[in-house]
Amino acid sequence: DVYYVDTGMESQTQQPSVREPFLGFFRGDVHSELAGYRERRPVAPLRLPDGRTGWLLTRYDDVREALADPRLVKDGLLSPLGFRPQLPPDIYAATARNMLTVDPPDHTRLRRLLQGAFTARRIEGLTPAITAIADQLIDDLATPGPHDLIEEFALPLPITVISELLGVPAEDRGSFMESASVIVAGPSRFHELPGAMIGMIGYIRDLVATKRRQPGDDLTSALIAERDGGDRLTEDELVSTVYLLLLAGYDTTANLIGNAAWLLLDDRARWDAVRTDPGRLPQAIEEALRHESPVQLGTHRLAVEDVTYGDQVIPAGSTVLLSILAAHRDGRQYAEPGAFEPARERSPHLAFGHGIHHCLGAPLARLEARVALTTLVSRMPELRLVDGFTPRWRASALMHGLEDLLVTSS
Ligand code: HEM
Repeated sequence: DVYYVDTGMESQTQQPSVREPFLGFFRGDVHSELAGYRERRPVAPLRLPDGRTGWLLTRYDDVREALADPRLVKDGLLSPLGFRPQLPPDIYAATARNMLTVDPPDHTRLRRLLQGAFTARRIEGLTPAITAIADQLIDDLATPGPHDLIEEFALPLPITVISELLGVPAEDRGSFMESASVIVAGPSRFHELPGAMIGMIGYIRDLVATKRRQPGDDLTSALIAERDGGDRLTEDELVSTVYLLLLAGYDTTANLIGNAAWLLLDDRARWDAVRTDPGRLPQAIEEALRHESPVQLGTHRLAVEDVTYGDQVIPAGSTVLLSILAAHRDGRQYAEPGAFEPARERSPHLAFGHGIHHCLGAPLARLEARVALTTLVSRMPELRLVDGFTPRWRASALMHGLEDLLVTSS
């Protein structure tokens, strides 16, 4: 049951589409829904939940250009579709002051503070720790099952990794997982959004207070030292940055692991290819990033002047939404975009964004996926999907991940 909203823009279009499906309520085949936009209305007006009009871009060239377009700015909000939940001002400030939600020069300053922690070399050093986490999770999968790989493997792995990086104690991770899933869920859980954001910010403030008293060898303590020692960021920016890392590093990576595992298990020849030669996994992971991009929409932008995309003028003040998922299936950019083809000639994908906001955690996400899948194929070579498994995608305005992935090794 797709939920439609009236865009109110029919009279301005040559091909009137009377009502536009509202993103996040795609229950059917999200790719064919998006293909409809890409081929018929590549720059499409949509009514946003708060009544404003947003513009959805779905062609590769447009999405790539818009991701790096300085006329499309961030407006200090990390929330699905530019929806502004009712929040106490101090909570709002503590969610909205991180590198992903601001523009230069603040963006440059905030990103630089963390750049050193995410270099390829520093990240590669986490391999033994991530392998230990993957091994532990697979120990718990020892019974023949069926098991849900999303719940039992793809979700706990990245939350454990990012929690260890940030110094979040193990006993607190469950409540984070719940709040984070509300925050990325989109329209279906909008009414829970303020509560989840307030809860998460409250928790992070407590964590910062604890680490101030007792610093550890973690990123939260390092950011506190930058604030207290060098005054290089404000208290809101500190809390907001921890908030961003927890959110950005969790659901996205879980989706990549889940989507890639499904794509491999769905065709025995693919599974056998990576099982016999795990060296093929990095290519398979890149193709999974393209074919079933973990992020459906890049974070929204705001047009500060009139901008023209395709033959459409997007008026100043509009919210612009960029569908990475749709861009990755654009036949103008990729030959046979609907085929999963790890050996395809590589063409740059946009799964980690593009331009100054290109994902800071991309090396970490790639490493987590590589370690997770290498451990899975080597320790559970007989793993297979349960008979009759059909993928169901979670309803989310922002993300693209599976509801569950039922497997057995019996
Ligand atoms: C930004 C995707 C994992 C941290 C982004 C953006 C995308 C993205 C598309 C740009 C958003 C935009 O411009 O609107 C992904 C995907 C991941 C992943 C697909 C996993 C497969 C991670 C991880 C971390 C992380 C593991 C950190 C622990 C960040 C940060 C930014 C970002 C800090 C903001 C960068 C900036 O604004 O300069 N990510 N991400 N991400 N990501 Fe990731």
